[in-house]
Amino acid sequence: MGLIAELEGLTAALQQGLDQAVSLPEVEALRVAFMGRKGRLAGLMARLKEVDPEDRPAVGQAANAAKQRLAELLEERIARLKALAEGAEERFFDPSMPGRPPYRGSLHPVTLVMNELCSILEGIGYEVVSGPEAETDFHNFAALNFPKDHPARDMQDTLYLGEDLVMRTHTSPMQVRSMLAHKKPPLAVLAPGKVYRRDFDLTHTPMFHQVEGLLVGQNISLGDLRGTLAYLARELFGPETRLRFRPSFFPFTEPSAEVDLSCMFCGGSGRTDGGTCRVCKGGGWLEILGSGMVDPNVFKAVGFPEDCSGFAFGLGVERIAMLKYGIGDLRMFFENDARFLERF
Ligand code: PHE
Repeated sequence: MGLIAELEGLTAALQQGLDQAVSLPEVEALRVAFMGRKGRLAGLMARLKEVDPEDRPAVGQAANAAKQRLAELLEERIARLKALAEGAEERFFDPSMPGRPPYRGSLHPVTLVMNELCSILEGIGYEVVSGPEAETDFHNFAALNFPKDHPARDMQDTLYLGEDLVMRTHTSPMQVRSMLAHKKPPLAVLAPGKVYRRDFDLTHTPMFHQVEGLLVGQNISLGDLRGTLAYLARELFGPETRLRFRPSFFPFTEPSAEVDLSCMFCGGSGRTDGGTCRVCKGGGWLEILGSGMVDPNVFKAVGFPEDCSGFAFGLGVERIAMLKYGIGDLRMFFENDARFLERF
């Protein structure tokens, strides 16, 4: 075979080798093999002196062309391998790396407190129940001993939906519904939920949450109510918490009491290091719920026997959440500011 054909054959041979080369050292080995001082091109050039003098210029030209083409092929391959390596780095994926945690919401402080209240009282046998937020006049008022057109109804700033339908102003209608559903005593129920009043200022929102408790049986006394509430308060706020009953009035309980807890911020002393306790305003007590012994008129309205007795209590969930988490403004609960909600 003539030298010129052999020179031209080098290009194809190198191309074949480069197609297999997947790393820079492999390309370098090919460069040495083809273009090195003892490489294949040098070997062919060494035979130039065997060529007839008049053919030498043509062979020389072919040799130069081959040399240039070989260099080009090597450069191309090197560039390609480098580009692949960079791209691969961008796509680098280590399956053993910890994942990015997905964004998770958190439970609303009101939900947290409702759950806690429920689990404390479920632990001593209460059954959690729920009912409608739009109530009939009967369940929200009449059966709870609020006579029609009686001034007692003014205690609650009701949102009326019609003649006979109201947004429930408290969870107490669940007392009525539970007794009707159970048909006879005994029962112990807990009803958490939303309630509505036509009210809006710094400390009142048109919707808020209550948890209603009702226990009915025989020979239930005010002492049972006090013991239950003391247990609940100490589970919620710690064993040092003290209770105070203040006489009050609700149409559906007799006697009725509002219950205060010793202030958990100053331990009931009314004073902190900074002076007067800001939470209880120095009084040492915090009003926390309404309660009382179920009024006989309520038992009558649901057809319960005359000889049964029971107690009921209703507490504001936001109020407890504010005390538990040290939240100063009721409106924070309903502004849906994620920075606030993420704290819980
Ligand atoms: N329903 C009353 C209120 O919203 C609270 C209460 C419940 C009082 C049960 C006594 C018994 O103010």
